[in-house]
Amino acid sequence: GEGGVTVTRKHPSAREAALQALHAQIRQCRRCPLYRTRTQAVPGEGPATSRIMLVGEAPGRQEDLQGRPFVGAAGKFLDTLLSAAGLDRSQVYITNVVKSRPYVGPPPGRNRAPTSEEIAACRPWLDEQVRIIRPAIVVTLGQVALDSFLPGRRLADVHGRPLRAGDRVILPLYHPAMARYGQRWKALLRREFLRVRQLVSGLPTRPRR
Ligand code: URA
Repeated sequence: GEGGVTVTRKHPSAREAALQALHAQIRQCRRCPLYRTRTQAVPGEGPATSRIMLVGEAPGRQEDLQGRPFVGAAGKFLDTLLSAAGLDRSQVYITNVVKSRPYVGPPPGRNRAPTSEEIAACRPWLDEQVRIIRPAIVVTLGQVALDSFLPGRRLADVHGRPLRAGDRVILPLYHPAMARYGQRWKALLRREFLRVRQLVSGLPTRPRR
């Protein structure tokens, strides 16, 4: 990859096929009531061979309409954070803890946080994505995503600090939607996102299959 950083691994085809099959299952999912109100599920996107997996909270309105993660306002800012860190969005796998949009009120409604029931119902999909992709680095975006990988850790205490979880590194970051709270949040996010690039640079160049 560019600048000597290898983000994706070789031998893609079998894992790519498994991931696409999983995405198809997720699009049909009826494990929680959100299937009744969604336009479409948002499984995730990116190479099955990526060594970096980004995990957000749940799809918002734009994501629900387009079927792709992080394509609304927070997604636009995420793109700039990634490129400032020397990474292209196409090199990373991006998904959410919950795959269908939670909202309140009459359509189009207002986004709301996912419930613990919705999070639990969706959990097997996230587990399966991790099993197929086997990322070296999981970047959690926001407290909900952090809870899914390191329950009990408070984002306010550990943000920006890479944490070991078995043979994986979890990098807990604030959610890019925090950018709406102004320049200080944007600057903090930009600063902490540079860690992703640092962590990738520290990975062995001969990737594990
Ligand atoms: N916020 C999220 O957590 N996920 C998305 O996909 C979009 C916005």
